[in-house]
Amino acid sequence: MDQSPRRSWAEPFKIKMVEPLKMLTQEERKRALTGAGYNTFLLRSEDVYIDLLTDSGTNAMSDWQWAGMMLGDEAYAGSRNYYNLEEAVARYYGYKYLVPTHQGRGAEHLLSRILIKPGTYVPGNMYFTTTRLHQELAGGTFVDVIVDEAHDPANLNPFKGNVDLNKLETLVKKVGADKIPYLSVAATVNMAGGQPISMANLKEVRKYCRSKGIRMVLDATRAVENAYFIKVREKGYANVSLAKILREMCSYTDAATMSGKKDLLVNIGGFLALNEKDVFEEARNMVVVYEGLHTYGGLAGRDMEAMARGIVEAVSEDHMRARIGQVEYVGEKLIKAGIPIVRPIGGHAVFLDAKVFLPHLKQVSFPAQTLAAELYLESGLRSMERGIVSAGRNKETGDHYYPKLELVRLTFPRRVYTQAHCDVSVETVEAVYQRRSKIKGLKMVYEPKYLRFFQARFEPTR
Ligand code: F0G
Repeated sequence: MDQSPRRSWAEPFKIKMVEPLKMLTQEERKRALTGAGYNTFLLRSEDVYIDLLTDSGTNAMSDWQWAGMMLGDEAYAGSRNYYNLEEAVARYYGYKYLVPTHQGRGAEHLLSRILIKPGTYVPGNMYFTTTRLHQELAGGTFVDVIVDEAHDPANLNPFKGNVDLNKLETLVKKVGADKIPYLSVAATVNMAGGQPISMANLKEVRKYCRSKGIRMVLDATRAVENAYFIKVREKGYANVSLAKILREMCSYTDAATMSGKKDLLVNIGGFLALNEKDVFEEARNMVVVYEGLHTYGGLAGRDMEAMARGIVEAVSEDHMRARIGQVEYVGEKLIKAGIPIVRPIGGHAVFLDAKVFLPHLKQVSFPAQTLAAELYLESGLRSMERGIVSAGRNKETGDHYYPKLELVRLTFPRRVYTQAHCDVSVETVEAVYQRRSKIKGLKMVYEPKYLRFFQARFEPTR
């Protein structure tokens, strides 16, 4: 392993096109926030200075990807770009069959409808909002089988995304393997703070699932970021390429859903990749109903080309080192300033621990939602709640889920912001931290039925 001291994570690219940003005054920000019901999803992007809402579809594409956009074959059927994408998925992810979808949740929808029957159970290493909703809409019940450490923001376990085999076994004993259409494994685990799953765990879980005849489906949205963590944290992988690690990870699973809007460096796109022919045939038939013909799945030819090229760029060692290096840079600065964040620092984002940040607020006063609103007020920095609002309600009891993690996510778009933007983001968090004891909570005044965090509205409590 390379023992030389870590040099800077400096970007392996230079900038050739810029997009001007607007800075509002404090008063304008206050007005914008009130108009948005204290929900950062409802702000206009124009009113945002540094946008760390999400890393989804917010990537900057390379000149090579933009050149590919010009080669879009916009035929309704059999676009050349579809075949390029199919080839790239087969080469880098290793699955035999491909169904393109407009984004990740399109793939989740198809897979859930095909494999999940009412009354079945879908275990997973923590929930993700859209993934769980599609499982539930298909009649399944999500069961969390992630290791306990994942629910503890301070725990330093390097692989907090691991599946707890005991939890999985307990479920199998309780409901029977035939009631489990598949185990859903995310790499990395978004809601746990961008935490990775280890190769050893994937291998062990695969062995167990094989013995019980349970399929494994990978949420491959940030699997290359996960591969990076395996490379730097897991014994035996320091000298293995990201591309090779990725292939090995996928080899322990039967299918993958993908939101190309993350790892794959595009602004739109996703896919479902499969090894089972009969499931593929059903998905290829169903995609025509919900997304578009099986050779475009709701995407333009140029989008598929950009994603195919993104697959190649995503596994570049230099790219990934800078990508995760930037997130670590911000995380380490916040730790130095004494700000409570989820540790270890995740792959795509730094997660502020709102429970510790605002200890005087009860969870029903939405501490993370409140903190996200305050960060925007402070400097026009946009972040995202990942706590009680995102967790939603229990479909049986109707009560809120009360997740242990009450977090605010500062999510880094790939190849978009500079180190100075990172510094301003850290300064913003520090400024809000200084005045935290004076911050009051929120109450929800409008609540949509599905994925409420996107559109819910709030008002300050007195
Ligand atoms: N799986 C994971 C782990 C995700 O993070 C997302 C999206 C999806 C599936 C769904 O993909 O948005 O393309 O339909 N996460 C975004 C985020 C929205 O901000 O974390 P999608």
